[in-house]
Amino acid sequence: MIADPPRVEGFELRALSEADAPDLLRLFSDPEVCAFMDIEPLETEFEALDIIDWAEAQAAQEIGVRWGIRRPGSARLIGTVGFNRIERSRGRWGEIAYDLARDQWGQGVMSAVLPAIIARGFGDMGLLRLEAMVTVGNARSCTLLRRMDFQQEGVLARRGYWKGQAWDQLVFARLAD
Ligand SMILES: CC(C)(COP(=O)(O)OP(=O)(O)OC[C@H]1O[C@@H](n2cnc3c(N)ncnc32)[C@H](O)[C@@H]1OP(=O)(O)O)[C@@H](O)C(=O)NCCC(=O)NCCS
Repeated sequence: MIADPPRVEGFELRALSEADAPDLLRLFSDPEVCAFMDIEPLETEFEALDIIDWAEAQAAQEIGVRWGIRRPGSARLIGTVGFNRIERSRGRWGEIAYDLARDQWGQGVMSAVLPAIIARGFGDMGLLRLEAMVTVGNARSCTLLRRMDFQQEGVLARRGYWKGQAWDQLVFARLAD
């Protein structure tokens, strides 16, 4: 099952479900967390539920999956990670995505979690290429990806449009071999 969470030493991953709506609202209502993401900071639990519905529908179709991240024994959702897209019919690639609550930055959390996500992509999922789309200016995300041996392949000028403006996006990729 695509939603089966990868094991990560020191963290607990669980596919997002409706019960996570209040936690997700807390995470994504922080403008700093959303600064480079394609969403406005959330204001209501309904908006959080929309994201969860989207994630569940993706997992049901096996075209994406999003797990919540917690520390063992703690109920607090400290971030999410997963695949925004999994392409297995006309390609063998996946787009990874991740986020952490602001007070969790700078502690190596995502550096600990991403290797398991990458291993899942190149392992069970049989993908040949993993990519990440990063909004220009998101330095922490670029550093993280380079640490994970992703290479910047290029810049897609004005590829994004949200929050009332166009955004350039960097394409990062890591190949299975
Ligand atoms: C992108 C994001 C997940 C990166 O978080 P991060 O904390 O910088 O990344 P990591 O978990 O890899 O942690 C690296 C930091 O932890 C520190 N660290 C501590 N212990 C560490 C360890 N064992 N291993 C690696 N790094 C460690 C590093 O020195 C580094 O800190 P510094 O950047 O202050 O020097 C985070 O900034 C975020 O959630 N941003 C908002 C959402 C977002 O933009 N998502 C990405 C969209 S493309």
